[in-house]
Amino acid sequence: MDTFIINGGNRLKGAIPVSGSKNAALPIMAATLLSDGVSALEGVPDLADVRCMTDLLADLGASVGRDDKGKMRVCVEDEHDSHARYDRVRRMRASICVLGPLLAKRKRVRVAMPGGCAIGSRPVNLHLRGLKALGAEIELDGGDIVATAKKLSGAEIFLGGPFGSTVLGTANVMMAAALAEGRTTIEAAACEPEVQDLAAYLNAMGARVAGAGTPRIVIDGVERLTGADHRVIPDRIEAGTFMIAAALTNGELKLDNVRLGHMLAAVDALRRIGVVVEPDGGGAVVSSARRIEPADVTTQPYPGFPTDLQAQLTTLLCLADGNSAVTEKIFPDRFMHVAELLRMGADIRKEGPIAIVTGVKRLIGAPVMASDLRASAALVLAGLVARGTTTVHRVYHIDRGYEHIETKLKAVGADIQRAGE
Ligand code: EPU
Repeated sequence: MDTFIINGGNRLKGAIPVSGSKNAALPIMAATLLSDGVSALEGVPDLADVRCMTDLLADLGASVGRDDKGKMRVCVEDEHDSHARYDRVRRMRASICVLGPLLAKRKRVRVAMPGGCAIGSRPVNLHLRGLKALGAEIELDGGDIVATAKKLSGAEIFLGGPFGSTVLGTANVMMAAALAEGRTTIEAAACEPEVQDLAAYLNAMGARVAGAGTPRIVIDGVERLTGADHRVIPDRIEAGTFMIAAALTNGELKLDNVRLGHMLAAVDALRRIGVVVEPDGGGAVVSSARRIEPADVTTQPYPGFPTDLQAQLTTLLCLADGNSAVTEKIFPDRFMHVAELLRMGADIRKEGPIAIVTGVKRLIGAPVMASDLRASAALVLAGLVARGTTTVHRVYHIDRGYEHIETKLKAVGADIQRAGE
């Protein structure tokens, strides 16, 4: 298991290319299972989770390869096996998004039920409710979800849950409805840009999806879908993470391949904190005012502040000039980074789903343990600004979702090395 060894204190300056979005790429890769023909996908990042989805697609009869420019080609060759096994699903929860496509295309699917993970319990009841409304019969067998349907028919489906809508649940129902007979209306649909990107890919394949990006998505089913070419949107969470790196190190970063329109809440929060974010062609330039202002921030479904940036923002607020409150409304237990930040000298008190962060003058390097993807990113950020050396253990978590992060950070002046344990 690799570690990162980070000597903090360097000011980051220079340009960083932002990769394609992990959370857009994964459901889009799953959607290739709906099609007859070859899809060419640009901007799919080279990440552990993408490799895991590649292996899963191969298990399910698809051939997946990349050309020398990194463009991914996917073609389904054999529709015999419709089983996403526990061994894959336990490694990557996003494996659940093969459920909708396999049900619609192969009429029978078996997907291991995902368990909880470091960010809390992660039910899939809304996914199942949506697929049942389309006509699927669903049972649980030996820890697997087994779904069958002779035919799927359009329906009105409400996907709101106790914590808002569901991103991958919306994706699953949208993909299944694309090949259902008649019209499906999803109410309380997730509005995330990744859902919009999936709809754009489905439409390029010949689907008829309208309203993605709003809480009502209307899908008119079609008989078949072809392969299609598609470019994946930039990763708004990776971009936000590098914005926070610039702010923490009093640096100046030019981020290429950013859609600020997908980041309104994050940019608003950063500006309130004193970070300067300016649009720059197809990207953004980010620099920090020396003083970090405290802020109260609450995570919400899109277009609210994303839960996937909560941990990284908490690191920034550790160095603010005053008290901040960070409230987690999507995954109330997503605070694994807090105990590790305390080891680095942060002053954070947790009260239920709220972290009260009292700014300190400095963080101090320490050995810390990564627990999940975004918590790991928060610890790397803390290491970049801490006095002395920080060793982040178990960086495989960060490799799941950040493409070549240490190479990108080194190129702008960070002192970060990867080491085997
Ligand atoms: N929920 C239910 N029932 C369901 C599904 C979800 O109650 O059937 C609840 C969840 O427990 C949570 C809330 O609804 O409280 C939202 O969960 P959602 O289903 O939207 O999460 P997801 O689709 O499983 C995606 C991202 C996550 C991101 C969340 C929220 C991917 C591959 N994953 O997960 O990304 O945090 O949306 O925006 O797209 C990450 O990249 O680090 C990551 C965890």
